[in-house]
Order: sequence, then structure tokens, then C-alpha cells
Amino acid sequence: MASDYPLTPTTSPTPAAERERILAAPGFGRYFTDHMSTATWSADLGWHGHRVGPLEPFSLHPSAAVLHYAQEIFEGLKAYRHADGSVWLFRPEQNAARFARSARRMALPRLPEEDFLAGVEALVRADEPWVPVPGNEESLYLRPFMFASEAFLGVRPATQIVFSVIASPAGPYFTSGLTGVTLWVTSTYSRAARGGTGAAKCGGNYAGGLAAQLEAEEHGCDQVLYLDSAGEGNLEESGTMNLCLITADGRLITPPLGTILEGVTRDTLLTLAAEAGLTCQERPITIEELREGAADGTVTEVFAAGTAAVVTPVVGFKGDGYAFTVGDGEPGRRTAALRTRVLDIQYGRAEDPHGWLRRVL
Ligand code: COI
Repeated sequence: MASDYPLTPTTSPTPAAERERILAAPGFGRYFTDHMSTATWSADLGWHGHRVGPLEPFSLHPSAAVLHYAQEIFEGLKAYRHADGSVWLFRPEQNAARFARSARRMALPRLPEEDFLAGVEALVRADEPWVPVPGNEESLYLRPFMFASEAFLGVRPATQIVFSVIASPAGPYFTSGLTGVTLWVTSTYSRAARGGTGAAKCGGNYAGGLAAQLEAEEHGCDQVLYLDSAGEGNLEESGTMNLCLITADGRLITPPLGTILEGVTRDTLLTLAAEAGLTCQERPITIEELREGAADGTVTEVFAAGTAAVVTPVVGFKGDGYAFTVGDGEPGRRTAALRTRVLDIQYGRAEDPHGWLRRVL
């Protein structure tokens, strides 16, 4: 049975007028709701102290293991308000399962998947007024995370851990999300090696990507695209999104799992694309195949997929000594259709034949 997260409401909630002002233009990751879920784990007591309380800073000893050795994982999922006012999560069981896999990889304790879900749902219930009425793809972005809070400088798995969920009203992740983004194919950095942490959703993967992100921006691109670390020229992912190619003969091709994030949106789109008549292939794709395919018209569309980015068209690439556009440099028709399809399910505008939605309120 899932643990309860009893609510201690904040005594100083954000005034309704201020909340409405924020919800009118939330951006991404800038504003936070009034509450947070937490639970703690210690080697002797296991998980305990589950609760929802006011959003507040953590008090950490300067030697807390997370600050030195980055023993930390996180998730990202969204709560969607439907036209009748009800509030739903999209495939949260997938996030709970991935969180458990990430925890194993980072030697963190296993949080039962039902306790992950209960912590997320309790926060959505506590902060229900913060779930936006969607005008332009707004939702309540939920950020579950777990970190090593033990004060100890020796290198071993920590014996004191915090699990928490915070929430942030969100609009589109990219301001250019609908017109399409450009990716910088870095030959300076790689993201993950075989046997490394590439498949885990851990903060270190993202910290390691920041220099590459700066490199992309210096070259006028929105995001970076990584190739495999073995030097074989295989496309991996973009650091915050998985990558998918669509071909003129009706295939959707995406790099295989292993060193990339096991994206929930990626998995969803593989199902939806097959239903839309595309033949899906999970296989290595080299940058040369992409370049040649874009040049000879074999590859007609490229998009990136993620919880935050949803389905974001990729209209161009740059790398050392080359640049190319995909198709006519505009978002593709099939990309737009897949994007509409997934959003329609998430926002309850279409049937949910796979039972992906989970009602919270
Ligand atoms: C998400 O899509 O939820 C992610 O985790 C990407 C994020 C780092 C913005």
C-alpha cells in the first residue's frame, strides 16, 4: 500500500491575483507552487516522514554528499487540466519505474513506485489551483528528485537521503518550439559512454552538458546534439530531448536505448507513429546518414521529443565545417501531426486508447 503524504498547508499562500498573473505567462521553471512533498530515508529506518508541507529551502550540512559527489536523480512529468476542470497525469508509472532504475544506477535507495506516485499526486492535490487552464500548451511541471543529504566526505553510498517533489507552472520549453530549433553537433564533447550513467536521469549528466550547451549557443544553435563517445559518429540525444528522423518512404528512425535517456515521450511517439502508419526503427544512425539523407531528400523531417519539449521540430544542424537544413527548413507535416496527437491525448481532447492518463482530481 502507498504511504500517505499528510498535508500541512502553508500559512502564507501566494495571493490568488499573483498566482493568476504567473499562470498567464509562466515560462519554464521560473515560478514554484506553494507546497512540496518530502520523505526521508536512513539506513536504519528506511523511508519515513512522508508529508506535503510549505515550499521551503532545505537545510544541508556543507559536507552533504550530494554537494560533493552528485549522488542525485530526478524526473520530469506534467499535470494537465482538461476542459471539464479535471486534472490528469500522463504515464506517471513510467516515470516512477525510470526513477527506480536511476536510483539503482546511482546507488540510491529504492523508493517504492507507489510512494513516488503518491508523493506526486499529493502535491498536485495540494496545489490544484496552480494547474493552468491551457491556452498555449500550459501545464503544471512536476519535478520529483532524490539526493544524498548525509554529512560525510568519504566516497560511498550515503546513508541519509531525501526524496522530494516540487511543482512549477510551465508553458512551452522553447520559445521557438513551433517554428523549429537548430542543433549543434558537437565534436568536442560526448554525453555518455557504455557502462556510464547515460540512461539514468541524474543531475551529473546535465551538468556535464552545460559546456556543450554553451558551445551550441556560441554557434547560434538552440541546443546541442551528441554523437556516441566511441567515435563511430552515431547520433545519441540532445541532452534534454531524444531525437527522431522521418523519411520520405514513411519510416520513423530513432537511436536505440543504451546510453541515452529512456524517454517517456520517445516511447509514446513510437506507439503513436506506428498507429499513424509509419514504420518505426530503433537503430544506430550516423551523422553521415543524416547529412546525406537531408541533402538527397531521404530524410524529410527531424524532431526532438521530451516531457518539457513535447515534440519540437528540428529544422537545421550545424557542426564543425558544415551546416544543413532539413526539408525546406520549416516544421514537417508528420511532425506537426504527431505533436497534435500526443497533446490531444494529454489534454483530453482525444480518446486515450492506451489508458495512459491517470486522473488526480
Ligand atoms: C524533461 O523533459 O522533463 C526534462 O527532464 C528535461 C529538462 C531537463 C528540462
